[in-house]
Amino acid sequence: MFDTNTRTLVVVGAQWGDEGKGKLVDVLAERADWVVRYQGGANAGHTVDLGTSCFILQQIPSGILHPGVRCAIGNGVVLDPETLFTEIERLVKTGVDVEGRLYVSERAHLVLPYHKLLDAESSASRQIGTTGRGIGPAYEDKVARRGVRVLDLRHPAHLASLVERGVDHANARLAHFGSAKRADVAQTVATLEALAPRLLAIAEDVGLAVHRAIGTGAAILLEGAQGSLLDVDHGTYPFVTSSNTTSGGAAVGAGIGPTAIDAVLGVVKAYTTRVGNGPLPTEFNEPLATEMRELGHEYGAVTGRPRRCGWFDAVVARYAARINGLSGLAVTKLDVLDTLDRIGICTGYEVGGAVHTEFPGDLTALEHVVPRYEWFDGWKQSTAGTRRMDDLPGEARQYLDRIESLVEAPIRFVSVGTRRDQIIEVTGAVPA
Ligand code: GDP
Ligand code: IMO
Ligand code: MG
Repeated sequence: MFDTNTRTLVVVGAQWGDEGKGKLVDVLAERADWVVRYQGGANAGHTVDLGTSCFILQQIPSGILHPGVRCAIGNGVVLDPETLFTEIERLVKTGVDVEGRLYVSERAHLVLPYHKLLDAESSASRQIGTTGRGIGPAYEDKVARRGVRVLDLRHPAHLASLVERGVDHANARLAHFGSAKRADVAQTVATLEALAPRLLAIAEDVGLAVHRAIGTGAAILLEGAQGSLLDVDHGTYPFVTSSNTTSGGAAVGAGIGPTAIDAVLGVVKAYTTRVGNGPLPTEFNEPLATEMRELGHEYGAVTGRPRRCGWFDAVVARYAARINGLSGLAVTKLDVLDTLDRIGICTGYEVGGAVHTEFPGDLTALEHVVPRYEWFDGWKQSTAGTRRMDDLPGEARQYLDRIESLVEAPIRFVSVGTRRDQIIEVTGAVPA
């Protein structure tokens, strides 16, 4: 996967986010010319562990740690310029040169301070358990045609009128929430004017640049954020993020046509996690909930919030395979299961005697489901040093084989640790 036949590859999360997309993108970026983020924003936290240093990337594509790879933030991202420059400074301080190879789409919408204020003050955001990064309010403004885009920074008078409109709307919403806080036009404009020269210096028509790169045979990675079950259309609505996280969003958010995409890699953990509220059918009870959280260090990369954990849910992953058109799977964190006696895979949801294997759109249908499990013997030995499928313990192979057959997508990668080198690539022909 991602070779001479697959030049444009989408990497998506196939659960509820934090599947290890950052690690896979970093591994694959060695073969890439471009890495493009296509949706979400600073709600993402993508971890790349180089062994000697560890980076958590929020908006900058996870290919940035490979010198020479061009990285772009596409039009589908809602861009927080203040966070972007903090991220850039952090990279530069650790010796990562981003000069001349980091671009932002001139069409990307900006996350402004009042979007973060609205996210913080809204009770609906609290019910969902958002990351508080202003993502929902920024996408709301975009869809309501009230947004401010990167290219607006080129026109100061126009920019001030756009900000005034955004602030008026935000202040009306804040008053409606019963909040005493208010956004300020002059302060917002001043913040933007101070950032404008640096942002405009890296502003590009990203869709055009990627299109031209594809024309020269370049290898392009499209890096998804969040996960398929957080997709605003296909996820567990309303407990979702505000963008199309699935592969369909990749073409729109990078500014290229869907026929340019050759393949889609879905990243899944060898179990399931979710941060924030909303359904998680295979969620563990105590004491397993705490045990797995500690074994897997399941705390949000950016917010530090504890992640909810459960067994691998094949209903969810098979649904993700369908809606993303997955060409292959990357299974991460297999090593986290190394010490367990027995491991479960959810193969269906039982309701009133009937077993359902298709993920429902209606959340009320999930309220009373009882997951049906198949049980597997643990392998009870470390997999962290394994680099070939053939060298995995037999029980681990059986576990992975069952995931592959239930999800109906071939496993192309297995990750056995946080570091770049802790990866197994399945070579050879993909089964038909
Ligand atoms: P992303 O948002 O999908 O990029 O994932 P996050 O970075 O938020 O969360 C994944 C976490 O799991 C990070 O702390 C990674 O370092 C870690 N991780 C990724 N792959 C593996 C793996 O195979 N084994 C272990 N133990 N940790 C992993
Ligand atoms: P990465 O890219 C996991 C979750 C939040 C909340 C919901 C809506 O690192 O996988 P938002 O702030 O987007 O309006 O919050 O989505 N969420 C994530 N969960 N990983 C993420 O990103 C997430 N980004 C948002 O916890 O439930
Ligand atoms: Mg994450």
